[in-house]
Order: sequence, then structure tokens, then C-alpha cells
Amino acid sequence: MITCSSAASVFSELKTRMETRQARVGVIGLGYVGLPLALLYTEAKFRVTGFDIDQHKVATLTSGGSYICRIPPTEIQAARSQGFCATAEFSSLTEMDAIIICVPTPLDEYREPDLSFITNTARAIAPHLRAGQLVVLESTTYPGTTEEVLIPILEEGNGCGLKAARDAMANGEDQFFVAFSPEREDPGNDSIARRDIPKVVGGLNSQASELAATLYGAIFNRVVPVSSPAVAEMTKLLENIYRCVNIALVNELKLLCLRMGIDIWEVIDAAKTKPFGFQPFFPGPGLGGHCIPVDPFYLSWKAKEFDFQTRFIELAGEVNSYMPYHVVASVAKALNARKKPLNGSKVLVLGVAYKKDIDDLRESPSLTIIEALQKEGAEVSYNDPYFAFVGRGRHYDLQMRCTPLDNLEQYDCVLIVTDHSDYDYRRIVAEALLVVDSRNATRGIVSAKIVYC
Ligand SMILES: NC(=O)c1ccc[n+]([C@@H]2O[C@H](COP(=O)([O-])OP(=O)(O)OC[C@H]3O[C@@H](n4cnc5c(N)ncnc54)[C@H](O)[C@@H]3O)[C@@H](O)[C@H]2O)c1
Repeated sequence: MITCSSAASVFSELKTRMETRQARVGVIGLGYVGLPLALLYTEAKFRVTGFDIDQHKVATLTSGGSYICRIPPTEIQAARSQGFCATAEFSSLTEMDAIIICVPTPLDEYREPDLSFITNTARAIAPHLRAGQLVVLESTTYPGTTEEVLIPILEEGNGCGLKAARDAMANGEDQFFVAFSPEREDPGNDSIARRDIPKVVGGLNSQASELAATLYGAIFNRVVPVSSPAVAEMTKLLENIYRCVNIALVNELKLLCLRMGIDIWEVIDAAKTKPFGFQPFFPGPGLGGHCIPVDPFYLSWKAKEFDFQTRFIELAGEVNSYMPYHVVASVAKALNARKKPLNGSKVLVLGVAYKKDIDDLRESPSLTIIEALQKEGAEVSYNDPYFAFVGRGRHYDLQMRCTPLDNLEQYDCVLIVTDHSDYDYRRIVAEALLVVDSRNATRGIVSAKIVYC
């Protein structure tokens, strides 16, 4: 632990500890973002402690297991042998030199930011905060969260008058450092190593920026410093809003192309040959995941404080949230063409994960589609190699078990919602009576049984 002599030496000691891998790193929130990050720091020879309120996760990691498909238990065991440990006991936060917060930032039932995970975490850190620590928020959120929400709780709750270091302040020994650094991971994308994704950091003051850049420079090949936490917060939102709006654009054009008898996928393939000024986005059954359907609304909520309407975000949200209902209407239409009503038809949904080859069903369009099909009276089953059971979540309560992928002729319709690589689409088309494909997964297979939607 650091013993404080002067503010300048606190800063330089901490920086040296980071550079020499002596710094102790605490990661709060051991989910899809936090656990891989904790493992990266362990691999880089830092002493890492993971903190989570979920006792089941802590127990699983402590026994050398894993709860994320793409992280095998062997990786956890290797990390444990290098000193990584997980705990639900927050008092040891005091021993950390750097604390990185990776907790969820969902929307509440009114589709407004739910910052309770951040505020609860800040309250849990505050009593254990000590001078000279670096606290970094990674959770995606609206610009202003670090300064307006996180820091006040840390300052008010620490009980010994510690303050976040600001450039305008006189250097003192009673200061801690704060930065925001957004996570930019793309789950399931193996084409780029996490360390090759540049890391944006925005410190509250220049020392916090330098410390955060040093900390992340140890595991990322490139760090991109920006002038404030708010710029870093907004950067992440710009990236996700850009995706959300462009996906809405191709979703809308897909609906038009379907009416015009044009294959939107062929169009995108041709357009993406342009070497400049065009980046391909792909249509689908609707947005999913913890980020793209959620994060833009953090900004539109904040914008209201400035009497500003974020019209692109609202319009993209409208187009994208209609897509699952378009899929359901397409199933009904395809059955109707075969003189069958949706009511009473047997439908097998392929894929509940929100995108291919991952074990994450948060905000998945499949969940909306299954519920809407059931509401119309369809008898729905699902198959997904990543989910043996789907129970209750924030917005659904399905209580369904995965059905084996056989006897496909028993279903009136097989509906492809998630295009997992494990599926043998030729076999599926050969055996099924009708295939409705919302992902273009059956591209290249010629059959009158396929309906693209
Ligand atoms: N998953 C992604 O691909 C991704 C990508 C970029 C950014 N993000 C952002 O990163 C953040 C975390 O996302 P995630 O996907 O890892 O979420 P997650 O739900 O997988 O993990 C969050 C973890 O935090 C824990 N937690 C909740 N409250 C806590 C508390 N008070 N103290 C300690 N632990 C607590 C939960 O138990 C859980 O294990 C979100 O803001 C998200 O928007 C996620």
C-alpha cells in the first residue's frame, strides 16, 4: 500500500507501480466486460482482485469455473494460479491502487437510464477509498455521469474528506484520481484482439489522464487520451448511436427492397466494394445486446435537460423496434400462403442469443418474437446451442427448454432469428416444411421453402 508523503510523490509512486506491474488492480463487476479485463491484467502480471455482488459468480470463479462460454475454466484456473481472486467483500478495495468499474447500465421500465448499479457501486467503494487511488468508470453512460454522479458519491461517502483531484485544485495529500474509459468490446468478433482496440481515456485532471493512460497502456497497444471524462463518455455514445442509426437505415431499406423484389444483401455486397465513404451495416430481426438498443437512449434522456430532441436516435429506435414485429408478420404471411393460420401453427425459433455464436440473450429480438408469436396463438419451441433453458429476465418470462434440432417436418415453420455458425442450414432447409429467414443465413441455398424477411 502507498504511504502518502506529498501529492506529487503519490502520483509518481502510483505511476511507477503501474509501469512496473506492482499496482494492485480491482475490477468491480465481473460480467462480459469486467471478467475478461481482469484476466487481461492478470496475464500482464498485475495482482488482480475481482469484486462482484453476485455470490454465484464469485463462487464459480473461486472454484476455477467459468460462466461465460468463450472463457474456458482453464483460463480462470491459470489466472488463479497467478494470483487472481474474486470476492463479494468490498473492504479489500482499500488495498487496490486502481479500481475499474464495469457494472451494468440498463434502461428502467420507462426506458430511462437506470444508474442504480453505478450509484450502488460508488456507495460501496466510498467507505474504503483512500488517497492516491485511481478510480475508472468503464460502464457506458451519458456525458456527465462521472462528474455529476460518481464523484459526488465518492467524495461525500468516504468520511475522511478525500476529494477527486482537479486541475484547478492545489495539490494535496487527500486526493484520489478519477477517469472515464469506455469499453469497446465486440462480443463474438474474433477478428481483432482486445488489446488492438484503442482505449479512449478521459481523466478529471491531467494526472488522472496520465495514470489511466499508464494503466491501460499496460494491456492495450494504443491509448487515446481525451480532454475530459465527458468527452470519453460521449465518444462511446457516438460510436453506438452511429451503429444504431445505420442499422435502422438498412432495416428500413430492407423493408422497401422486400416490396420491390430486390435482394438487399446483394445490394449491400455491391455497395461495400466502394473503397471510400461507405461502411456496410446489415439488416436483421431487430437490435439486441446490452449496448446498441440501450445506450442511445442514455443520450436522448440527457439531451432533454438541454431542451434538445435527438431525432435521429428516436427515429432509429422506432424503425429498429418494429423489426421483430415485421418478422412475426412475415411468418404469418408465409403460413397464410400455405393456407395455414398462425394461430395453432407449430413454430420452431432457431436462436435466442441476440447475435450469432455468443451466449448472451440480453434485449434479444428472439424474446420479443417468441412472445409475440405466442400471443397470436402459435405453439412455439426454440433451439439454441448456447441456451438449454430460457427463464425470466428483465422484460420476459418464457420458462422454455431448448428443443433438439430433429424431426423438423413436425413444425409448420422453422424461423431463423440467430444465424449461429453451428447450424447446418442445408439440412434444415431439406428437412423443414417452411423456413422463414430473417438473417440471410440460407443464402446460396435454392429452395421454394425459403422465405426471406
Ligand atoms: N457486453 C458488452 O459487449 C459491452 C461492450 C461495451 C460496453 N459495455 C458496457 O459495460 C458495462 C458492463 O456490461 P456487461 O456486459 O459486462 O454487464 P454484465 O451484466 O455482464 O456484468 C455486470 C456485472 O456487474 C455486477 N454488479 C452489478 N452491480 C454491482 C455492484 N454494485 N457491485 C459489484 N458488482 C456489481 C453484476 O453482478 C455482473 O456480474 C455496461 O455499462 C455495458 O453497457 C458492454
